[in-house]
Amino acid sequence: MPRSPFGQPSQPYTFAERLLFPRTRLHSGRLAEELYGKTVLITGASSGIGEQMAYLLGELPVHLILVARRTDRLLAVQQRLEDGPATVTVVTADLRAPDELDRLVDVLLALPRGLDVFISNAGLSINRTLAASLDRFHDFERTMAINYFVPVRLLLALVPLLQQNQGQIINMSTINARLLPMPDWAAYQASKTAFDSWLRSSSAELRQSGISVTTFYLPLVRTEMIRPTAAYDRMPAMCPVEAAKQIARSLYTKRKTWHPWWLPAGELASVLFRRPIEHGLERRRRTRDADR
Ligand SMILES: NC(=O)c1ccc[n+]([C@@H]2O[C@H](COP(=O)([O-])OP(=O)(O)OC[C@H]3O[C@@H](n4cnc5c(N)ncnc54)[C@H](OP(=O)(O)O)[C@@H]3O)[C@@H](O)[C@H]2O)c1
Repeated sequence: MPRSPFGQPSQPYTFAERLLFPRTRLHSGRLAEELYGKTVLITGASSGIGEQMAYLLGELPVHLILVARRTDRLLAVQQRLEDGPATVTVVTADLRAPDELDRLVDVLLALPRGLDVFISNAGLSINRTLAASLDRFHDFERTMAINYFVPVRLLLALVPLLQQNQGQIINMSTINARLLPMPDWAAYQASKTAFDSWLRSSSAELRQSGISVTTFYLPLVRTEMIRPTAAYDRMPAMCPVEAAKQIARSLYTKRKTWHPWWLPAGELASVLFRRPIEHGLERRRRTRDADR
């Protein structure tokens, strides 16, 4: 999907998408008031939701710290923001590499005004059958590394900083953490659910120490992440610009969770119709294998 300037989805919504993902109303005055002069860390800012988040917040007088592996993409984001009111610091790091993660933590610990918001967004998804994974233990290691161990390691280092500024943690989780597990997504789902559980378990303590915690249970979002899965081309997906607007809204509402309006119905169906759904998924797999 081509990159779009902030506020303009690069692909118009279909009728189904308009129903499933109603437009977000963002109160730009409240956002500006809340964020004035603050420092925001966005991991995974080189594409997708993180990149759109950078464009949105880059319209405000904030300090953005943008992290990812692709330097060229991060620099392109920085360049687009250079005439705006935000100060942008780019940190190129493969967060799975302990020394690169430590280097990022050093940058953050040296910030003169500390850290106010941590948007934990960097992530990796893998769609692969178990049969195709038998010699690929590293898939499970690399998804656990970026989707679970990286945010845990970062937060262990950043909690004192966020506590000092009564800051906010925003986590990009997935609706699948609350629904029946989907076949072929074991590595991704297990790792995203692991961090979701970790954060839910730690939230009361974090809130008690003055840190707000917001979890986004995102539906399918049309980014680079879903591009390799051809079946998703025809499925309704949220636009990353809208996802960024919802995240920005949570910066002043401090809501505990966000999910699409229809997720509770999906959760109920996961409980009430568990067996027929599982049978349906197994039948679909058998048909697919027979067609090959
Ligand atoms: N798209 C969806 O349907 C969907 C649904 C639910 C939840 N989410 C979650 O939303 C978040 C953002 O995903 P997206 O859809 O915007 O996908 P994306 O465009 O692929 O963005 C992923 C970001 O993570 C960064 N990243 C990946 N591995 C990294 C590493 N080892 N070190 C540093 N940065 C790394 C990538 O940058 P580099 O490659 O440059 O390092 C990229 O900026 C993810 O946590 C994802 O799980 C997405």
